[in-house]
Amino acid sequence: MKRFLDLADFTRDQIQDLLALAQSLQDKPQPRALAGKILGLVFFNPSLRTLASFQAGMARLGGSSFVITPGQGTWALETRQNAIMNGAAAEHIREGIPVLASYCDALGVRAFADGKSLQADMNESLFRMIDALCDKPLINMESAMNHPCQALADWRTMDELKVPARAKFVLSWVYHPRALPLAVPSATLKMAAMRGMDVTVLRPEGFALPRETMDEARRAAAQAGGSVTETAERASALAGADVLYAKEWGTTTYYGDFEADSRLRADLSDWCVRERWFADAAPNAKLMHCLPVRRNVAVADEVLDGPRSVVKREAFNRLAVQMAVLHRMLS
Ligand code: CP
Repeated sequence: MKRFLDLADFTRDQIQDLLALAQSLQDKPQPRALAGKILGLVFFNPSLRTLASFQAGMARLGGSSFVITPGQGTWALETRQNAIMNGAAAEHIREGIPVLASYCDALGVRAFADGKSLQADMNESLFRMIDALCDKPLINMESAMNHPCQALADWRTMDELKVPARAKFVLSWVYHPRALPLAVPSATLKMAAMRGMDVTVLRPEGFALPRETMDEARRAAAQAGGSVTETAERASALAGADVLYAKEWGTTTYYGDFEADSRLRADLSDWCVRERWFADAAPNAKLMHCLPVRRNVAVADEVLDGPRSVVKREAFNRLAVQMAVLHRMLS
């Protein structure tokens, strides 16, 4: 495996194979499998889970890693094509990425959406450039529109919980004080569709996911025997749900317009997941969230601290599935 950029690049059999390897590495640790191998980790944006789990996973397999946080102890890196570099950035990724790649056996990169142009972010302009510059195996640790490591961990979490393939999976927009990227909701939607689930995207008006993303998910669901619908009606969406996946994201109608986004979300603070959301509609539904989560803003304490929350399991599974990805790439 030379690239782990999008779960959709893999067949269901290949995904099952990675999940089986994750289980095998958990049951029978291989502490020397990646001895002498080095993983480079470049974080243009903050992280807790991704940073710690990749370093821990590499160490558990006998390898080592280095972390670069551009602009924080290292040179700030310019990412714009043909930039006149008279600002803060001292170095361009055109040099920075190949140089870093030359020091390691695989590179992981986190580079969030620019958040200005939906088309540019949908095109993954920055990550495509990084991909072209990196001659070593490359891992997407969250790009503008994707987070395949999180999606694979979430697939594993549902398998562990014995959530059936045809279960009802509700991806629900939840409140956040400001717009967040579309990477996790897009990756989650496609993952659930590929898993063959009956997916409902629940979101207020103005927050529909991009049509191309919905279409891609519908095609994946059709192939896997599932379905994809969307609605702004919470009661009908939650009726019979097996999983509620909560996620915050920004407006797509006024993408990049901070003030329009703020106006749209001003009256939506009741989109905080509470126990009463489940009540009779979905009493046994699990609550998933990729973390970090703002307590009592996106999800209430009573839900996060109750038995339906599996958020810490999802986070643990990041380590398990990323070890499988690293093993496939480097062993
Ligand atoms: N879910 C996730 O990617 O967490 P971090 O942003 O902390 O890495």
